[in-house]
Amino acid sequence: MAKLKVAVFISSRGSNMQSLVRACSDPEFPAEIVSVLSNNPEAAGLKFAAEHSIATRVIDHRDFASRAEFEAEINRYLETVKVDLICLAGFMRLLTADFVNRWRDRILNIHPSLLPAFKGLHVHERAIESGARFTGCTVHYVRPEMDDGPIIAQAVVPILQDDTPDALAARILEQEHRLYPLALRLVASKRVKIHGSRVLIENGAEESAVLINPPLDIS
Ligand code: GAR
Repeated sequence: MAKLKVAVFISSRGSNMQSLVRACSDPEFPAEIVSVLSNNPEAAGLKFAAEHSIATRVIDHRDFASRAEFEAEINRYLETVKVDLICLAGFMRLLTADFVNRWRDRILNIHPSLLPAFKGLHVHERAIESGARFTGCTVHYVRPEMDDGPIIAQAVVPILQDDTPDALAARILEQEHRLYPLALRLVASKRVKIHGSRVLIENGAEESAVLINPPLDIS
C-alpha cells in the first residue's frame, strides 16, 4: 500500500513532530512526512526537519492581512507537495472553518489534556487547579471549533499531589510522543472509521486497564 503523505504543522519546539519523523523512519510505517510547515520562522523544529532531509516551509501569518489570505498561501503550498493528511503538532494558530472544512477528516491534532476537558491554553495549570485526579493527552480529528473533533486515541496521566504545571506537562509530553505515532499509524493503515462524533478502530483492543489514583493499595 502507498504511504500516506503527511505535512506536519508546528509553531515552535516541534518535539511531537520529531516523534512522528522518528516513527516514519521505520520502513514498515504506513506514512511519510513530506513537509514540515511553520507559521514561525524561529521555530526550533525547522532545524531538526531540515537535518532529516524533510522539506520545510515558513508561512509567517504576520505577512498576511487576514487569516483567509494566510491559509490560501498554505493551501497553494500544500497542493505543490501533494499532501494527504495534515498533522497539527503544537501549531498555535486557529484555523478557519473554511480551511478545516476543505481538509475535513484529513487534519489531526494533539492536545495535552483528556478532551473534551481543558480545551485551549494554560491546560496544565487548569487541570491541577480543578482537583482532577487524571489528565493526559488526546489525538483527534480537527473540526472548526477549537480542540474539538472525533477522538482517535488518548493517554491518561495521573495528577500528583505535589504536581507543578511544568512537571505535569513533561510527563504528559512523554505520552504525547507515544500517542501521536500510534494514532497516525492507525489512520494511515485505514483502521480508523469516523461515525458521527466517534471514531471506531478496526480490530481495536476490547479491554483496557483501569487507572485509579490514588492506587487501591494505599495504606
Ligand atoms: C504539545 O504539548 C501539544 O500537545 C500542545 O503544544 C505542545 C507542543 O509541543 N498543543 C496544544 O496545546 C494545541 N492546543 P511540541 O512543539 O514540542 O510538539
